[in-house]
This record gives sequence, C-alpha cells and structure tokens, in this order.
Amino acid sequence: MCGIVGYVGVNQAAPILLEGLSKLEYRGYDSAGIAVREGKEDPVVVKAKGRLRVLADKTDNGKAVHGTCGIGHTRWATHGAPSESNAHPHVSNDRSVTAVHNGIFENYQEIRDKLLRNGYTFYSQTDTEAAVNLIDYYYKKYKMGPIDAIAKTMVRVRGSYALAVMFRDYPGEIYIARKDAPLIVGAGTDGNYIASDVPAILQHTRTVYYPDNLMMGRITADTIEFYDLNGDLVKLDPVEIQWDASAAEKGGYEHFMMKEIHEQPRAVADTIRSYLKGDPDKEDALLSVDLGKIGITDEMLKGLKEICIVGCGSAYHVGVTNQYVFEDLVKIPVRVELASEYRYRKPVLDPETLVIIISQSGETADSLAALRISKEHGLKTLAIVNVVGSSIAREADYVLQTYAGPEIAVATTKAYSTQLIGCYLLAIGFAVSRGTMQAHEESELLHELLTIPAKIQKILEDKERIQWFAAKFANAHDVFFIGRGIDYGICLEGSLKMKEISYIHSEAYAAGELKHGTISLIEDGTLVIGVLTQSELYEKTLSNLVEVKSRGAYLMGLTMSGNFDIEDTVNFAVFVPKTDEHFANSLAVIPLQLLGYYIAVSKGLDVDKPRNLAKSVTVE
Ligand code: G6P
Repeated sequence: MCGIVGYVGVNQAAPILLEGLSKLEYRGYDSAGIAVREGKEDPVVVKAKGRLRVLADKTDNGKAVHGTCGIGHTRWATHGAPSESNAHPHVSNDRSVTAVHNGIFENYQEIRDKLLRNGYTFYSQTDTEAAVNLIDYYYKKYKMGPIDAIAKTMVRVRGSYALAVMFRDYPGEIYIARKDAPLIVGAGTDGNYIASDVPAILQHTRTVYYPDNLMMGRITADTIEFYDLNGDLVKLDPVEIQWDASAAEKGGYEHFMMKEIHEQPRAVADTIRSYLKGDPDKEDALLSVDLGKIGITDEMLKGLKEICIVGCGSAYHVGVTNQYVFEDLVKIPVRVELASEYRYRKPVLDPETLVIIISQSGETADSLAALRISKEHGLKTLAIVNVVGSSIAREADYVLQTYAGPEIAVATTKAYSTQLIGCYLLAIGFAVSRGTMQAHEESELLHELLTIPAKIQKILEDKERIQWFAAKFANAHDVFFIGRGIDYGICLEGSLKMKEISYIHSEAYAAGELKHGTISLIEDGTLVIGVLTQSELYEKTLSNLVEVKSRGAYLMGLTMSGNFDIEDTVNFAVFVPKTDEHFANSLAVIPLQLLGYYIAVSKGLDVDKPRNLAKSVTVE
C-alpha cells in the first residue's frame, strides 16, 4: 500500500524523502513522487511511474531538487491507473495546497461534483486531488487557517486517510491528519519527520509520536503540535522505538525474506520469553504463562464461552492452526474467521466471547474493522500484534505483542511464526486458568516450547536440500498441499508462500476433501506435498498420498523425525525434529517457506516485492 514520508529541517529534503520512501518499498507501489520547497517558493513537484529508481534518476537521487521542507509518496493505485498524473503529490488548482494521501476518500465523486460547480478543474482521476481542492476551497472561502481548513475537510469526507499537506502561505510547515490509516511523526535533532511506517525514519530518529484517529498535526523544523477536530491543541507523549536501524537492512542476505526466515529462532525465542514466569534457562524451573502481563485475569477467563479468531492472509492461517490447539487444550468452542467476511456477516456470538484479532501490522483495514465491530457488540477483544502503537494495538482491550521486529518482505515469515507462539501461550495459559491443564503439564509444555528456536535453527542448517528440490520444480504449473487438522493449517500457509512469491498456482486441501473434486486435477508429474506431523492422522493422510500417487502425482512428504516409513511412499521426504504435536506448525512451516523462496529465486522473481501485492493492506 502507499507510503508517505515528510521532512522539514536544516538538511536538503529530497534525498531524505527518497531514502525514506525506499525503506517503504516493501509495502508495494506503482509510482512515486515528491514535493519540495525552499522558503517561500512554491513546491517543486516531481513524479514518476514505476519503481522509485526512476524518480531517483530523474532527480539525481534528490540532489537536483532544492529545499528543506518536503513530502513524498509511493502510490499503490486505487482510483485511476498508475500514471504520472495520478501519482502524488497532488496540487490544488492554483497550487496553494500540495498533499500526499494514503487510503480512500469514498465520497470523492460527490466532492468533485461540488468543486466542479465551484469552478475547480481536475487533471487526474484520483480521490486525493478532490480532497486537496476541498481543503483549498474551505481555506479560501472561509479564510481559515490550515488546521481549520483540514478539520472542515475531515468532517466532509468519508473513508480512511493519512494526509500530509503543505500550504503555499505557510513555508517550512507540514500539516498532517489521519483516520484509520497509519501516520507517525518522528522528532529528530536536525529536523522533524513524518512517515506511514517506522522503517522510513528509523535511520534519523527513534523518538516517535503516534497521533490518534481523527487527529491533526503541525510540524516545523523545531516544533511538533497535535490538534483535535475542534482545532484545540492536544498533548501527546512520544514513544521510544526499540527496533534499531540495522533491523530494517538486509544484513548480508540477498533478500529480506531470507534474512527474516533466519531471524525466526531469535524472534520466536524473544516472544516466548516475554510471557513466561520462572527461569527459562533452568531445566527444572516450574514455568508458567504470564497472562497478567497482558492484563487477563482468571475471573475473565472463567466466564468465557467461546473464542473467535479473526485475521487476514497468513494471520488467518495462524488462526486455523490454533483452532485445533485451543479446542484441544482449553476445551472451548473456537471459530476462525476471515476479517473481510466477519465484518459484513453479522456473526451471532455469545456475549461471553473473546475475539482474538491477529495482525502483524496492526493496520489491516478489514482486521481493524472486525475489531471495532466486536467492540461495538460489547465483546472482549485481544490483539496479537507486532507493531506497537498501531491502530489495532491501541484499540484492543488486551494486547499480546509479538517480538518479530520490523518485517520488510511482503511474504510474512517471522511475524507469522511469532503469531503462532502468541496463540500457543494463550492456549496454555487459558487451559491452566480454566482447569483443563495442570501446572506441571503447563511447565513441561513450556519447556518444550523453549526448544523450538534451536529446532528451527537445525532445519535452517539443512536448507540446501530444499534448494535442490526447488530447482527441480521451478517450472511446475500446479502444486497441491494436503494435510489434516493442524497439518491443514500448515498447508494453507505453505501454499500461500508458494503462490505469492513464485507465481505458481497452488492450493491447500484438507486431505479428506481431495476426493470431492480436486483429485481430478492430478496428472502425471503434478507435485503434491503431504504434511503429516500429527500421529493420529498420519495413516489417513498417507492413504491420500497413495491415491494421488497412483494417478501420477510426484510426492513430497513433510513429517517429524522417526516416521521413516514415509520414504516407502513419497519421492522426496523432509523430516523436521520431533516436538509436541501442538507446536508442529512452527517447525513444518520452515521448509515450506524455504521452498517458496528458492523456487521464486530460481525463477528470477522479485522475492521481496511480489507483483500486485502489498505488505500492509490498509484499504478494503
Ligand atoms: C498482507 C500480507 C500478508 C499478511 C496479511 C495480513 O496480505 O502480504 O503477509 O498476512 O496482509 O496482514 P497483517 O498485517 O494484518 O498481519
């Protein structure tokens, strides 16, 4: 999704904007632009379709555009095709107002019509240009200051937005406004920054403000002010970001995705250790889950009737796996919902339901809407999020933070792995609190959980085997993933990793469903990947593999060490270390992440920025 960067200070703005935008490339975009001004001069606007490189070449890496105050944008087209005229920044008719925008103004057509009636004209098809002119309209008609003109616009528009605006009459000032789209302000020593995500400014400052929904701001080289919709000043406290700048660099890896795959042992360990009571380094320590850290009490859990897990993409897959884990350990009904469906479906839920929203970014539009709807219905909400200060983290009743650190590659790996851990910890903690698990069993499970990072490391050390196998199947047209129970959850994620970065059609099937249609797609040489980590279901899925083999499929089997007889059936076997079967996903997903990665690399594809995809989906 679109990215925003802004800077006002003592340095030249354009190189800072371009470098900041490059840190947001992972969000996905199709065009880019900057507007930079020196003192009272009008902003110089430069835009380019395509990669940021084109804009950098056009401006000599920003050196050709002079000025110490500016805003920049990478666009992911919603209204109007990717083109230079639709790219941001957009300017009002007489260039009094210049702005960049993330999100969607839903009633932009109505606003355009109103402005057309008032003599305005339009050069682009974007909703943003309508909003920029609306600000200009109020600014002039009512002779308002920037804050009041923006506030009046905010009341008139519908939709979601993060806006950064410059007014010709107010040199050295950037104004911001946000509703349901992320925007942060960074306080630096040589000027101040704005951005739609932390990595864009991490190199300059770690002191960050998170304006609330429907808040505005005025940023100059040495002041940062926030305002509410009435135009009254509001005081915000800054947050110190713990992530360091190197966390958003590739650190010697060819791609962010590979770096992030290798960060999983660390990310998983940090997340487990953050929620433990007892000494995790002592073999005989009695360990328990620290639910108090999240604010959850035994009393609240006692009355719970149901759990509803909601997410999008991989976060939803975490929910699918953990439906099995929660039901088995906590003995409570669990349903898993796609946020985009849940928000419009009027789900009938017991008032004593806990809604668990899973989101890496904490800004996914559908997940945020699902959270808000749940709260409106009086349900308790718990968010598993990676980004502190994100909208979902701020609005949920309870928050379990994952410690993946910044995730840059579009295809999630380490955030997904930490979300799994978050769910396991909750399931174990809930089970003890509700009396379906004894304290000693909890401790044993937690000791086992602490072995997961080293086991992931072991799988990573053997990655060349997967690389070899990937080379054989780089030209595959279709791949099927089959498994049952938790293994089905693993299949969903393995299949998504495959299709999103290698562009190979793939599907995940609950193995028992194959016979109801999909088996007719199996031809000579079709790759079928069976996931068999659950001992109770092992033979069932094995039979399904035999069925597809007899129709010509080429089989890869993924199972736990010890199940060596799988080699009698499959053409290529991958073994992951043994662990408690509830945690199998955490290990089995690693070879599947590697498989998707290596196939994409061998096809020469842009692994970190797959076509048409965005890291953070902040529009519906
Ligand atoms: C996008 C990303 C996925 C992610 C999904 C949900 O589609 O590419 O990797 O799983 O959004 O994002 P969230 O930030 O809510 O976890």
